[in-house]
Amino acid sequence: MNIQIRSAWNAFRQSPHAPKWLTWAAINVSIAAYFGFGLVAPASVSKTAWLPGETTHGHYQIEMDCNACHDPGRSADGPSGSDVMQDACIRCHGEQLDRAKDTHPAKKFRDPTNAERLAVLDAQNCLSCHQEHVPEQTLTMGLTLPADYCWHCHQEVADSRPSHRDMAYDSCATAGCHNYHDNRALYEKYLDDHHGQPDHLELASLPRRSTAASLSGVFRPDRPLAIDQADHPATQSVDQRVLDDWATTAHARAGVNCTHCHGGNGDTAWSEAVAMESCQQCHAGQVASFQTGKHGMRLAVGLPAMTPDQARLPMHAGQAHAQLDCNACHPGHRFDTQFAAAEACLQCHADDHSLAYRDSAHAALWQEELAGSGAVGSGVSCASCHLPRIEGETGIWVNHDQNANLRPSETMARQVCTHCHGLEYSLSALADPRSVASCFGDAPTERIESVQMAHAWFLQRQAKRDARLKKP
Ligand code: HEC
Ligand code: HEC
Ligand code: HEC
Ligand code: HEC
Ligand code: HEC
Ligand code: HEC
Ligand code: HEC
Ligand code: HEC
Ligand code: HEC
Ligand code: HEC
Repeated sequence: MNIQIRSAWNAFRQSPHAPKWLTWAAINVSIAAYFGFGLVAPASVSKTAWLPGETTHGHYQIEMDCNACHDPGRSADGPSGSDVMQDACIRCHGEQLDRAKDTHPAKKFRDPTNAERLAVLDAQNCLSCHQEHVPEQTLTMGLTLPADYCWHCHQEVADSRPSHRDMAYDSCATAGCHNYHDNRALYEKYLDDHHGQPDHLELASLPRRSTAASLSGVFRPDRPLAIDQADHPATQSVDQRVLDDWATTAHARAGVNCTHCHGGNGDTAWSEAVAMESCQQCHAGQVASFQTGKHGMRLAVGLPAMTPDQARLPMHAGQAHAQLDCNACHPGHRFDTQFAAAEACLQCHADDHSLAYRDSAHAALWQEELAGSGAVGSGVSCASCHLPRIEGETGIWVNHDQNANLRPSETMARQVCTHCHGLEYSLSALADPRSVASCFGDAPTERIESVQMAHAWFLQRQAKRDARLKKP
């Protein structure tokens, strides 16, 4: 304490107003501490009281981690509308939008010819279209702007495309037509290339995965291990069931021993619990993708694992407190991927779509594949659609982000359905809410027109070109 402050303090202590001032100061300090704590407290501490409104379907799981989006350095009074970091959106979603070949990335609008458009709608800022904590104006996919804004920038489309002339100005983003970001399954060339396909392709099959090729880290598959080669410490009592289960797995077949997962091999101590980080040594890609979807997003920001009792979607009460980690679908020690692909999901999920799965044609195909009467790859489980097998640099691997192709759902058409169905049929089924609700137990009632329209457009263009060539 320097001298000036000390003498001021002494003078103050002797003043008649001291007690009142101290009470006021104490109240202020505790208010500041209350709010300050809200800013710096660990994400697991409840901060619901500071939320201005319900958080979106995409983000509510991590809403307690205010600093994931709000910059705590910018305002002293707690999170506000002006301290949201666009960088944060990009950090979590940038890669995903790049992969989707975003049709409207911020950089597209750097061109000065767009200045006039941007003055009305700043398309370089995520927040222009995705606000938070405003449930009354939030649409699906966190959109907080009515979908007719496409018109603002694309009014000329009715002139350049006669086919679009009579369309409603708010119909651009209707299912099966266009998306703002992700048009991987909707651009003209792709649509035309898949024109005229039958509803059911002759060769209807999903690719096989190449798990060994997708391994990360230093471990490389080795000779198969037998029960008597298990390397758990002699002091550790182990149920015979554990040994039997382990011995039948792909792990034992590839030389993965007890201590690879449990530790206890010299440097580390044996631990009965096995955390996600242990799997991560060898399966980094599966872990990373798990963390960007709704199953693993809480673990990604350091919050405790998601449990069904916190969900907004309907869940089976019996699983209310099940932890969403790797073991939720891969219980030790079988790591049975057939169980994981449908039975595991149905232990938790209880919405109409999930419950309808068992009666669908797809489920019958899956049962046939399991029974051996159907060809390998001909069955359709929950995982076939939601944890799709993706072509990567190292071969086919399982994307554990079940949100990556969920919305907009046309992404799923390209990644999954078109292995077995024509594109037009796939888009039509995905656009039909009845078909989705029955888990594709019903054929689509209406046909999406985009495939036909794209084809007609290319034919017209070709005809014009031919006519020009024929002119003398
Ligand atoms: C997933 C990102 C995200 C998280 C997590 C988040 N917010 Fe926000 N918040 C936003 C966005 C986006 C806005 C809107 C910014 C704008 O209006 O420009 C916002 C706005 C606000 C506002 C201003 C509302 C208004 O009406 O002006 C407050 C207050 C706020 N947030 C508090 C919180 C608190 C407290 C937490 C943690 C308990 C939190 N937020 C967590 C993204 C987030
Ligand atoms: C800590 C990482 C993180 C941050 C920061 C973050 N998000 Fe998200 N966001 C997610 C996850 C995880 C999901 C849920 C999975 C999914 O839908 O991809 C999600 C969902 C969404 C969705 C909805 C998808 C749907 O189908 O409902 C939108 C839109 C979105 N985020 C936009 C934003 C914007 C805009 C910001 C910046 C204000 C932002 N996010 C900040 C991780 C993040
Ligand atoms: C001009 C409006 C607009 C802006 C600006 C915008 N979005 Fe979107 N966003 C949409 C619309 C519309 C959807 C609904 C799906 C679609 O049409 O692609 C969407 C969907 C999403 C989704 C979920 C679906 C998907 O394709 O993954 C994410 C995540 C997302 N936006 C993130 C962002 C981020 C991050 C930014 C900033 C870099 C941003 N958005 C800027 C309009 C916008
Ligand atoms: C802020 C202005 C703006 C808004 C809003 C906007 N766009 Fe665009 N859009 C552009 C620009 C700029 C381009 C690229 C130049 C062009 O092709 O006209 C483009 C391109 C496109 C393309 C062609 C993409 C390609 O690469 O083939 C489609 C399709 C499209 N937009 C659809 C939409 C839809 C649907 C919406 C509403 C969900 C929308 N746009 C909203 C400015 C906008
Ligand atoms: C929601 C259920 C679910 C969760 C949670 C889950 N998995 Fe999976 N996993 C599956 C299913 C289903 C398959 C098999 C999919 C197939 O055969 O196409 C699979 C396959 C795998 C494979 C082999 C497939 C490949 O990519 O070649 C590995 C490795 C794997 N999971 C690791 C993990 C790890 C590590 C975690 C925790 C981060 C995890 N899984 C969490 C359902 C899940
Ligand atoms: C691929 C990783 C992995 C390998 C290899 C592995 N474990 Fe485990 N082990 C786990 C996981 C994960 C759990 C937690 C089980 C759960 O929650 O479903 C566990 C649990 C256990 C438990 C305590 C709970 C129980 O089920 O009895 C024991 C004991 C155990 N393992 C012993 C072994 C022995 C002995 C071996 C070698 C023969 C082995 N483990 C190989 C991952 C592994
Ligand atoms: C030391 C490396 C290593 C660790 C640690 C490890 N795995 Fe594996 N995992 C493998 C190998 C090797 C394979 C078999 C690859 C093949 O098909 O040849 C495999 C296969 C799998 C499969 C596919 C099984 C099948 O029948 O196709 C799943 C699921 C899986 N691991 C999950 C996990 C989970 C969950 C953990 C953490 C509890 C884990 N692994 C830890 C190396 C490891
Ligand atoms: C331990 C319980 C549990 C298991 C097992 C489980 N899930 Fe989930 N799942 C959840 C919870 C909880 C959520 C988040 C729901 C919410 O936000 O309301 C979720 C979210 C999802 C979503 C995203 C929904 C959305 O609207 O964004 C899909 C898709 C999904 N799960 C599919 C599956 C599939 C497929 C499997 C099996 C391979 C599976 N789940 C296994 C509990 C589980
Ligand atoms: C043939 C592909 C397919 C199969 C099989 C499938 N789903 Fe879905 N699932 C979808 C599509 C498409 C959507 C809707 C995406 C959208 O438009 O919002 C969806 C939506 C969901 C949702 C979100 C529901 C909501 O109300 O937001 C969950 C959870 C889910 N599926 C879980 C499952 C489970 C669990 C199974 C197996 C029992 C399963 N799905 C089987 C394709 C499939
Ligand atoms: C592995 C191949 C395969 C995949 C992947 C697949 N399907 Fe199917 N689907 C089939 C087969 C085969 C049938 C016909 C079964 C029968 O008639 O017995 C079918 C039937 C259907 C039906 C008709 C049900 C009826 O009773 O008429 C719809 C709708 C459907 N699929 C939609 C989809 C959608 C949407 C996707 C992607 C999200 C998809 N399917 C993915 C193979 C597949």
